Amino acid sequence: KRVTVLMGGASTEREVSLNSGKASAKALTEAGYAVTLLDVGRDPGDLVREVVASKPDVVFNALHGRFGEDGCVQGLLNLLGVPYTHSGLLASAAAMDKAFARRLFEQAGIPVAKGEVVKKGQPTSVPRPHVVKPLNEGSSVGVYILHPGDNRDPLKDWPFDSDEVLVEEFVPGRELTAAIMGDRALGALEITSDRGWYDYEAKYAPGGSRHLFPAPIPAEDYEEACRLALLAHQVLGCRGVSRADLRYDDTRPDEKPRLVVLEVNTQPGMTATSLVPDIAGQLGITYPELVRWMVENAAC
Ligand code: DAL
Ligand code: MG
Repeated sequence: KRVTVLMGGASTEREVSLNSGKASAKALTEAGYAVTLLDVGRDPGDLVREVVASKPDVVFNALHGRFGEDGCVQGLLNLLGVPYTHSGLLASAAAMDKAFARRLFEQAGIPVAKGEVVKKGQPTSVPRPHVVKPLNEGSSVGVYILHPGDNRDPLKDWPFDSDEVLVEEFVPGRELTAAIMGDRALGALEITSDRGWYDYEAKYAPGGSRHLFPAPIPAEDYEEACRLALLAHQVLGCRGVSRADLRYDDTRPDEKPRLVVLEVNTQPGMTATSLVPDIAGQLGITYPELVRWMVENAAC
């Protein structure tokens, strides 16, 4: 089979995507596929020409962030009639918009953090500590955690390039992530970081974070995290591999722990040590097996 790997792109997660793309291309080549590696730039015309010229049976989409993860590239591949890995147009767009995804989660009874969309120039009614995040970025780009007494206020300075942001209560406790492969939750791990929270550095600097698998929490909460991750994947209409990020608050001594779903990543990081490959590996699914499964389950 001929597989064209899309990587790079024009989003803030370009560097992350280059790493995801190179790792998957290497594994696919070793697995015997005829691989073309395309470094996607800003020009959709070039992208169309290059994809068509590479005559792919399947596109392996290793893009992250805007245009690659939000349904745009998916729509283009629909038009070209080329099957591709991961979610389709609608699910990609729905998952990428954090406010839209929250509404779908709430309707399905999936717990989310209390929050609201705030327009530029407007105050928020969400008390601190709270988290301010762009509606459509990944890798914690542009995310601010504000505590009571912090002097800076991104809602006043507005360092964002869109007119709306999401403000959510800060859920204390622990960071979990769960991997989905098709109709199955593979498992959940806990992420710990010395940096205070799981920001861009913690995500990608060597040694910036640790993965604890399986997440060391009570079995019933572990099952619930996996159930919520699969439900979130299904509610959005996702396909193939996705990853749900959750918070687990066990800081209140007299109350049951609380789980909330933060988001579903339809194009999760795909280096050999990224979260989904790590979880899959714990189940005995090697990285080459994972990317092969993704190619063989590609759709349009
Ligand atoms: N947005 C990054 C790539 C992730 O979710 O893994
Ligand atoms: Mg994300």
